[in-house]
Formats: sequence, C-alpha cells, structure tokens
Amino acid sequence: MRFEGSRVLVTGAGAGFGEAISRRFAAEGARVLVSDIDLAAAERVTGELDGALPFELDVTDEAATQAMAAAAVEAWGGIDVVVCNAGLPHRAMPMIQMDTADFDRMWDVNVRSIFFAAKACVPHMGEGSSIVSVASIGGRRPRANLTPYNASKGAVITLTKGLAAELAPTVRVNCVTPVSAPTGFDKVAMGIDELPEKLEARVVSGIPMGRRASPDDVAAAIAYLASDDAGFLTGVALDVDGGRSIG
Ligand SMILES: NC(=O)c1ccc[n+]([C@@H]2O[C@H](COP(=O)([O-])OP(=O)(O)OC[C@H]3O[C@@H](n4cnc5c(N)ncnc54)[C@H](O)[C@@H]3O)[C@@H](O)[C@H]2O)c1
Repeated sequence: MRFEGSRVLVTGAGAGFGEAISRRFAAEGARVLVSDIDLAAAERVTGELDGALPFELDVTDEAATQAMAAAAVEAWGGIDVVVCNAGLPHRAMPMIQMDTADFDRMWDVNVRSIFFAAKACVPHMGEGSSIVSVASIGGRRPRANLTPYNASKGAVITLTKGLAAELAPTVRVNCVTPVSAPTGFDKVAMGIDELPEKLEARVVSGIPMGRRASPDDVAAAIAYLASDDAGFLTGVALDVDGGRSIG
C-alpha cells in the first residue's frame, strides 16, 4: 500500500471528488483528515473509514485552516499530503452579469483557500510530502459563460507551478485538471441534479473517451501525484479529461 501510515488532509471531502479522494487514500493505508464546510457530511465519510478524522472547515477561513493543520499535527505529529479540493462553480452566465459578491466568494473558495492551506500546512510538511490541488480543464481551455470560474482554475494552475518552484525539493506541488463529472457540482452550477440528456450528450461528444470523468478517475490521478511513483513530478497540471484537451 502506497500510503501506509501517511497523514493526509482533504478539503471539501464530504461529497463528490473529495469523498472519493478520501476513500482512495484510506484504502491505500493513509490516515485521512476529512474536512468540509458541512460537518455532518465529513462525519458520514469518516464513519466508514478506519483512522479518519472529521473536521469542520470553511476553506475561506484562514484561522480555521490553521486550526485544521494544528489538529492534524496534534493527532499525528505532522502532515504528508494536502489535497486542496474544495471549490465552487457558478451558474453559467456572461461574466459582466455576475454579482461582484458572487465573484469574490468563488475566488475565495477556489484560489485564496490554497494560499491559506499552504501557509498553514507547509511548516509541518517534510521531505517527500506533497500538495495536490483540484483545478479544472476549464482553467486551460476556457469557454464562454464560465469565465470567472475558469479564470479561478487557471489561477490554481499558475499557483501550483509557482509554489512548486518555491517548495522544491522538499514539498512537491501538483494539480489535476478534470473535465466535467457528475457530482453535486451540476446542482450548484445549474440548479439540477443531473444534466438533461441532450446537454450530457453534447458534453460527452467533446470527450474522446466517450464519457464524463468519475470521482474515482480524479482520486486515482491525485493518489498517483501524491505517491512516490510521481517522486520526480512537481509543477504538473495533469489533465484528467478523457482527451478533451487534445484538439
Ligand atoms: N464536478 C465537476 O464537473 C468538476 C470538474 C472539474 C473540476 N471540479 C472541481 O472539483 C472540486 C470538487 O468538486 P465536486 O465536483 O466534488 O463538487 P461537490 O459539489 O460534489 O462537492 C464539493 C464539496 O465541497 C464542500 N464545500 C463547498 N464549499 C466549501 C467551503 N467553502 N469550504 C469547505 N468545503 C466546501 C461541499 O460541502 C461539498 O462537500 C472543486 O474544486 C471543483 O471546482 C469539478
């Protein structure tokens, strides 16, 4: 098992990708701090995992992020992997129609949170440790009407590369750029539980592998980036996109 005894922190881990990421690390032997703004959701996930700890964290709260790092250090003596997964989409709309407060909130959750997590956790991370963030393929190939979200994910990619340069060789810093996946994301972005058939077909038609991403696809890629198998990889933005960005 690649993460036997490793100490792993995951944000936004009460559902969707974060839940799958937590399960994946736990299945590979890690102790996982499952944090989410929704404590009940975090507790539901930890209830099914050996040695996992739930933690209530709004990633826009710097003091709470410091408290999360402190809780991991108190319980386990240090931190090996931090997965900055929490993120907010917004309703698709022309950028100039977006409320500034919504723009700021989305930017705080998607970008500022990673700054907070790095500040809180890096002092407790040693040789061979790593940070992996969840960006989006939209951060590489933005399309109309998701401009603020895509720009925030472009910032995650740049932040990843800059931080990787700063923290090498001690801490590796990478990110994944998933294509659309059926999680609670659709509900937030569009107010629906799942994409209507026609829209689903349109999204899938742009993905050579013929389907949307799954939370397990994303969790597997993150586990790889955090593992010793990727020990020479830093500053990488790994496309988990079924080939969407090929052409
Ligand atoms: N699902 C997709 O299509 C897709 C594609 C590319 C990238 N992403 C990115 O993947 C990440 C996870 O998204 P998901 O699809 O699993 O979403 P999701 O909505 O299924 O889950 C998000 C989780 O984050 C938590 N959360 C929300 N705001 C928070 C905050 N301020 N602090 C802490 N936790 C918070 C929610 O309670 C929830 O448990 C996000 O960064 C998202 O931008 C998603």
